Amino acid sequence: MGVVGAGTMGAGIAQVCATAGLQVLLVDVDLEHLRRGQEAIAASLARLQEKGKLPRPSAEIGGRIRTSTDVADLGRVGVVVEAVFEDADVKADVLRRLDGACRPETILASNTSSISITRLAAATKRPDRVIGMHFMNPVPLMTLVELVRGLQTSDATVAAVTGLAERLGKTVVLSKDSPGFISNRVLMPLINEAIFALDEGVGSETGIDTVMRLGMGHPMGPLALADLIGLDVCLAILEVLHRDLGDPKYRPAPLLRRYVAAGWLGRKSGRGFYRYDRPA
Ligand code: CAA
Repeated sequence: MGVVGAGTMGAGIAQVCATAGLQVLLVDVDLEHLRRGQEAIAASLARLQEKGKLPRPSAEIGGRIRTSTDVADLGRVGVVVEAVFEDADVKADVLRRLDGACRPETILASNTSSISITRLAAATKRPDRVIGMHFMNPVPLMTLVELVRGLQTSDATVAAVTGLAERLGKTVVLSKDSPGFISNRVLMPLINEAIFALDEGVGSETGIDTVMRLGMGHPMGPLALADLIGLDVCLAILEVLHRDLGDPKYRPAPLLRRYVAAGWLGRKSGRGFYRYDRPA
């Protein structure tokens, strides 16, 4: 397995693959990004080991993850999942480079949360072997993988990636290649509306989140969840929904834009709708 991008999602994906017994090569642009990714993996594995939730010792799992700063090292892997920043041009460029570096039979999966798989596949010469493999955050705990089939994705690719996701202990749901897929078509309007309600003073941060937790049984309120996902990621997904579906109901809340402009990105920056002691 190859994983490109050692951020929250990439690190989580590498972790679950190694936990399932796969050898993983984790690639990012520099050693600092890789170091932070490895730290997150070690912390998560330690928590899971403490609770007896790992099938093998954490050191053995960690030992299955090697790192590199060069996509050329992915030449021999069977499947690569890219989990770089949610920007269509950045992702298309990564897929183009992977297409040049990997064997022709390698499957290129994108962890995009909203961008068209058909469009990303067009950046490669193997659109039949490009697929959306959308994991949920935190990857080690959430048991869903949303698979997204592009216009040219082959049946064999869907079958292979379904088998891989099941080996990772995930339940698979297949979505059409439509903006935001199933997950963010439904989740992002909820988060966006919570931000509009906050801005209009309908309720406080904790008020809105408590209503959704205790009143609707959500594990986290939408504002706390936005902080977990990353406010820059939420904004990027809403931009895709707004632009590609062309419906004004998806326009990102101005307060969300202001927070992102201020660098208040949620847990990872130490401040979003809530403050965090140390950036995650
Ligand atoms: N690795 C290992 N363990 C972890 C962890 C991680 N990354 N993150 C949390 N945990 C552990 C905690 O240590 C804690 O353990 P204890 O019970 O032993 O203390 C346990 O999980 C529960 O954590 P918390 O007490 O902090 O909080 P919680 O009970 O609310 O559970 C949660 C945390 C599992 C994240 C839960 O709140 C939840 O399910 N939230 C919703 C998450 C969600 O909706 N994710 C999808 C986001 S959308 C997305 O990812 C896709 C997209 O495209 C935007």
